[in-house]
Amino acid sequence: MSEILKTVSKNGKTLSIRKTALSERENILSLQREVVNAIANKEWFVEITADEITESADMDFIIGAYDGDRLVAFSLTVLNRDCDRSVGKKYGFDPEKCATFDSVFVHPEYRGFGLQQAFIELAKQKARENGATSLWATVSPYNIYSHRNCEQRGFYCYKCNEYLYGGRLRDVLVLEIRPDFT
Ligand SMILES: CC(C)(COP(=O)(O)OP(=O)(O)OC[C@H]1O[C@@H](n2cnc3c(N)ncnc32)[C@H](O)[C@@H]1OP(=O)(O)O)[C@@H](O)C(=O)NCCC(=O)NCCS
Repeated sequence: MSEILKTVSKNGKTLSIRKTALSERENILSLQREVVNAIANKEWFVEITADEITESADMDFIIGAYDGDRLVAFSLTVLNRDCDRSVGKKYGFDPEKCATFDSVFVHPEYRGFGLQQAFIELAKQKARENGATSLWATVSPYNIYSHRNCEQRGFYCYKCNEYLYGGRLRDVLVLEIRPDFT
C-alpha cells in the first residue's frame, strides 16, 4: 500500500488519499461506471479509458481516495509532457510547462468530503514539483459542482464555451502555478 498523501474527514469518517497503482485499473473503471450511472447529465463527463489509465500510471499522477481498502474516488493528472492529452498544448502553450487535471470522479455516497478540491491541491503540488507553471482543466459550464470547486482552488476561465470532445460544451480553465508560493 502506498503512502498516505492526505486525509479528509466528515461526520467522524476519515478517508485517505494515496497514489493508485496500475493493478487497481479494474477498480478504477468499475468506480467510473458507478459514477457515470448516477450522473444527472451525461454531457458533463467524458470517461477515461483503460489505455489512458495504463499510460498515466507510468507517466503521470493518478491518485485515489480510500475508505479502508475501498476505492471511492479517483483523479488523474497528466503531467507536463508533450502529448495530445495536454490541454495547454491545444491552446498553443509549451506542453512541457502545462499539466492537465484530466479526470476526477467521486462515488455519490462520498460526495461532500471536499475530495475534488483535495485532489486539485495535490495535483498542483505534484505539477509544481515537476516544473509545470500551469494546471489546465475543462469543465462543462453547467457542472456547477466541479466548476465551483475549480474556481475555489484558483482556476479561472481561459476560454469559455468551447466545443470539445466531439461537440461537448466546455469552459477551458487554467490555474497559474507560482513556484515561489504554496
Ligand atoms: C464533481 C465531483 C467530483 C464533486 O465531488 P466532491 O468533491 O465530493 O464535491 P464537494 O465536496 O464539493 O460537494 C459539495 C456539496 O455538493 C454536493 N455535490 C457534489 N457533487 C454533486 C453532484 N454531482 N450532484 C449533486 N450534489 C453534488 C455534495 O453532496 C456536497 O453537499 P453538502 O455540502 O450538502 O454535503 C462529483 O460530483 C462527481 O464525481 N461528479 C461526476 C463526475 C464529474 O462531473 N467530474 C468532473 C468532470 S469536470
